[in-house]
Amino acid sequence: MLRLNNIRKSYEGTEILKGISIDVKDGEIVSILGPSGSGKTTLLNIILGITDPSDGQIIFNEKDITNVSMEKRGFNIVFQDYALFPNLNAYNNIVYGLKNKPNTSTKEEVEELIDLLDLRKHIDKNIENLSGGQKQRVALARTLVMKPKILLLDEPLSALDGVIKESIKDRIKQIAKEFNLTIIIVTHDPEEALTLSDKVLILNEGKVSQYSTPKEIIDTPKNQFIEKFILNQLSIKRNNIFTLFGGSYA
Ligand SMILES: Nc1ncnc2c1ncn2[C@@H]1O[C@H](COP(=O)(O)OP(=O)(O)O)[C@@H](O)[C@H]1O
Ligand SMILES: [Mg+2]
Repeated sequence: MLRLNNIRKSYEGTEILKGISIDVKDGEIVSILGPSGSGKTTLLNIILGITDPSDGQIIFNEKDITNVSMEKRGFNIVFQDYALFPNLNAYNNIVYGLKNKPNTSTKEEVEELIDLLDLRKHIDKNIENLSGGQKQRVALARTLVMKPKILLLDEPLSALDGVIKESIKDRIKQIAKEFNLTIIIVTHDPEEALTLSDKVLILNEGKVSQYSTPKEIIDTPKNQFIEKFILNQLSIKRNNIFTLFGGSYA
């Protein structure tokens, strides 16, 4: 289990995160949802270990890892722009990080991931010849072969449209289940957060506005901000959201 305990972060005297406390269970998909500039990426980077919190603790499996380096934490991130190597083909991008690293995927496990992410047909192609959705799946595969203890995704779907988006969402759900992998996803899209996650952390003005299941957020939004800026932004009727997107809200 991952526990954030009263995480605070200030930049140049301005407090961006004002005491964030949440628990994330193993295998859960959690979305961090909030408007642009609300501190979502900052919080993700603090969990990853590339940004230090100004105050508070990060506890992972009952150990305080607040001062543990990113490498030793063993979490991993897929950045918004994929950050793939343009001069390597899809396969070599996927296996790039494996060289001489212990506790990562075997050749067979790499092959399984290629199939799971439906990349078999594209494996010899150069990155520049792949579509956005294919690049995103290569980026996911490249991160998953490292066997992260927690997978972090920063706006993984925002550059994708319609059908592609739905298919990647399904893969993300499948990966969480199959590997019992905790996945934390940053998004500014309420529809995405509510249809993809077990729990949604709504950030507003540096604080937790609500942290609950999509059903609880829809049925009992805690405040006006959620009513106005989250639920009213949904392009489809609340009652239909889960049936339309194949979720479990009945
Ligand atoms: N390294 C930094 N130095 C100074 N200010 C920063 C830095 N990183 C982020 N910020 C500020 O913190 C706020 C939250 O940023 P960010 O976490 O990127 O928000 P989000 O991902 O929700 O859009 C913004 O006002 C941003 O300008
Ligand atoms: Mg961001």
